[in-house]
Amino acid sequence: MTNDKTNVPSRRDFIKATGGLAAAGILSGFRFADVHPGGSDLIQVALVGCGGRGGGAAVNAMGTKSGPIKLVAMADAFPDRLSATFDNLKGAVGAQMDVPEERKFIGFDAYKHAMDCLKPGDIVILTTPPAFRWVHFQYAISKKLNVFMEKPVTVDGPTSKRMFKLAEDAKAANLKVGVGLMSRHAKPLQELHDRIQNGELGEILLMRGYRMHGPAGFFESPAKPDNVSHLEYQIRRFHSFLWASGGCFSDFYIHHIDHLSWMKNAWPISAQALGGRHYRVSPEGVPFVDQNFDTYSVEYTFADGAKMYFDGRCVTGAEGIYSSHVHGTKGCAVAARANDCGGPSAIYKGQNVTEKPVWQSTDRSNPYQNEWDELVMAIRNDKPYNEVKRGVEASIVTSMGRMAAHTGQIITFDDMLNCDHEFAPGLDTLTSDSPSPLMPGPDGKYPVPQPGINPKREY
Ligand SMILES: NC(=O)c1ccc[n+]([C@@H]2O[C@H](COP(=O)([O-])OP(=O)(O)OC[C@H]3O[C@@H](n4cnc5c(N)ncnc54)[C@H](O)[C@@H]3O)[C@@H](O)[C@H]2O)c1
Repeated sequence: MTNDKTNVPSRRDFIKATGGLAAAGILSGFRFADVHPGGSDLIQVALVGCGGRGGGAAVNAMGTKSGPIKLVAMADAFPDRLSATFDNLKGAVGAQMDVPEERKFIGFDAYKHAMDCLKPGDIVILTTPPAFRWVHFQYAISKKLNVFMEKPVTVDGPTSKRMFKLAEDAKAANLKVGVGLMSRHAKPLQELHDRIQNGELGEILLMRGYRMHGPAGFFESPAKPDNVSHLEYQIRRFHSFLWASGGCFSDFYIHHIDHLSWMKNAWPISAQALGGRHYRVSPEGVPFVDQNFDTYSVEYTFADGAKMYFDGRCVTGAEGIYSSHVHGTKGCAVAARANDCGGPSAIYKGQNVTEKPVWQSTDRSNPYQNEWDELVMAIRNDKPYNEVKRGVEASIVTSMGRMAAHTGQIITFDDMLNCDHEFAPGLDTLTSDSPSPLMPGPDGKYPVPQPGINPKREY
């Protein structure tokens, strides 16, 4: 749970994370009478996007204790990804899996087949790269399925508008939808939020988030080998390409931007930003073809003039800082002490983090499990639950900072929402033979952001 690469936990991790005996019962196949009474309240789950987080989310789904739940179908664009996650899940939650060969689906239409295995009221997990989110969500709504989808939920203006509309459609159909911004379900951050609303920090003037470490995930990419298409290469290395992920900026940095904005109970209205690419070749001299900057520094402004700074860096050998902070007129707070939302959160008198906090959180529950417990409870009790609008807003605010750095312009929330550059049109009709939404130019290179050259497009 410590960072963005939340892979399927080992059996031992899983038992530790979910509280010993009960988890051991699930893993061994022993059925607790009150947990698995059988019968009509069984919730079936399909997993679309069988990578690291998809596997983790499936474990969290199976770890909910409010009633019987089972994984019954899996879909992925690529067979090796599905089979690796299938094997990992067998080890972690095998007793709650019923995914025979005929319910494993491969390809760009696999999502439809997996969802077709479910009945209305079941749950589909959408954990592909975010470019496909609206396509898959649209189909889930048509099948009357409840949804858990990972962040970011959009990476550009046109798909954000589409997702706002789909959020309304899902609400009208009484579907429950969770979005994987798990900070919102981290109890230390919830408690800090309550204390800030109660005035313990006074008026909030400044917030700071930092995610600075070496290259992670597919932040950088060497040239495509000949034996793979541009489309497959870019999807497999989605952090490298803006259409697929919003780049490392959207994928890595959204959590701090989201939870700091929550502490202020507002979204920033504009952003200005700096960023640059210092290293275009690997230390061995191999050229990189991805679209990311190595460093980003964004100044977000709220309607009342308060500021939120976010610094992101993927550079080997530079200082590593990965935490978030809030400053008010009466004191300061550490929100995420480590990683995206790791505790303990704490409040300090004055503006220095000292040895003695005024308050420090003690809860150590797993926010990835909490978000699933709450979603499934809402489904079983038919309580309103729809995090999509907020997820789209967080995605737009994140894209705003990214676009400000990539264009060198001040970008407002409305600029981002109304920017008509759709990075990857037509993803709903994509096949494995389709050209990639990002093809190289005559010089063989993919386009990269060039601040100051084009104020309206990131590439
Ligand atoms: N909340 C968090 O802390 C957290 C952590 C990690 C990842 N994530 C998010 O989860 C999503 C997936 O990230 P990941 O790290 O698991 O990546 P991943 O590459 O490990 O998994 C993505 C999977 O989706 C598959 N896929 C791609 N396009 C597809 C399509 N059109 N149809 C079906 N399958 C498709 C890929 O083959 C791959 O198996 C991203 O949006 C990421 O930001 C969130």
